Amino acid sequence: MPNAVDIFSGSGGVTQGLRAAKWRVLAACDNDPVVAATYRANHRRTKFVEADILLDKTIDSIAAAVADQHVHMLVICAPCQPFSSQNRYRGDDAREQLIIRALSVAQRIDPDTIFFENVPGLATPAYRTVVSDVQKRLAEFGYVVTDPMVCDAADFGVPQRRKRCIMFAAKNQAALNAFRICNVTAPRRSVFQAIADLPALKSGEASETDVLHRARTHLPIAIQRLLHIPADGGSRKSLPEHLELACHKNKAKAFSDVYGRMSWYDVAPTLTTGCTDVTRGRFAHPEQHRAITLREAARLQSFPDSYKFTGRSGQVAMQIGNAVPPDMIRAFVPAFKAALAAIPE
Ligand SMILES: C[S@@+](CC[C@H](N)C(=O)[O-])C[C@H]1O[C@@H](n2cnc3c(N)ncnc32)[C@H](O)[C@@H]1O
Repeated sequence: MPNAVDIFSGSGGVTQGLRAAKWRVLAACDNDPVVAATYRANHRRTKFVEADILLDKTIDSIAAAVADQHVHMLVICAPCQPFSSQNRYRGDDAREQLIIRALSVAQRIDPDTIFFENVPGLATPAYRTVVSDVQKRLAEFGYVVTDPMVCDAADFGVPQRRKRCIMFAAKNQAALNAFRICNVTAPRRSVFQAIADLPALKSGEASETDVLHRARTHLPIAIQRLLHIPADGGSRKSLPEHLELACHKNKAKAFSDVYGRMSWYDVAPTLTTGCTDVTRGRFAHPEQHRAITLREAARLQSFPDSYKFTGRSGQVAMQIGNAVPPDMIRAFVPAFKAALAAIPE
């Protein structure tokens, strides 16, 4: 059973995907107490380091949690700010790039491979300096590293369009090649496949058995608007003039997803931290007159219903919207394994 360490773990999307493929996650780290509570509730055997990665003692705690166990993969999902001549700081400065800082963990625990997951922007010129810094530093520690690759979670069995940037590092070129050529895909899943079996709810109604399946209470005007949006992919273009939002009048293209419905037979749009609010994107149910519930959002992010989210509803939406979809990680496991097979014991 391969061992992993999950840095910037959030509520545990990556860990969930690895564990579903029978990996062991030895240690995880995040400095947000809300996500820490969710992580601990679901992954009791993982040593969770709730601390700021910028502190040296945090790196010590992660190394202590791993002890002398072999680490096959370190996962780094760092939030990232683009470097510019103005914000390029180094050393002990608190603004140091978190992704660069996380490389100190690699130096300490010496994993066979490193998987980076990040915003698609990491593949753009704005981040070129960050990427080349990561590659240079890892080369000093004996790793070869891919360039950033943009992929879409929808191609890995996640019922959601979610473009992400990944990079992979390994101790030798053969491992990197094995990772690259491994054909990673999974059958597409639609919104229908993900949520159609959930009980229908009206605005303000809640399931008696599932705390996350609770519909937001919409104002009467919002329900009036939703009644005019065609089922299965309709948009605010269908609103009569008297129901148009004042800020949208004469702006057909601006915020065109607001009040939009998801389509049953397509994947969902990218979920954000506002994914249960129809005023923040295409987050209306395909046919019911309400925004999707937290349960529906969790399913569209491929979390199993058994996954426990702690915190208030806004905090749960934040955790779901920020998560890495577990099924995307699970779909990558054959490529991780192919790479590990090319690294001598
Ligand atoms: C995009 S989320 C990671 C998602 C996660 N990997 C998953 O699988 O769902 C980035 C995480 O980095 C954490 N973070 C930000 N700054 C940090 C710091 N200085 N030290 C530790 N964690 C930090 C945030 O709390 C957030 O949970």
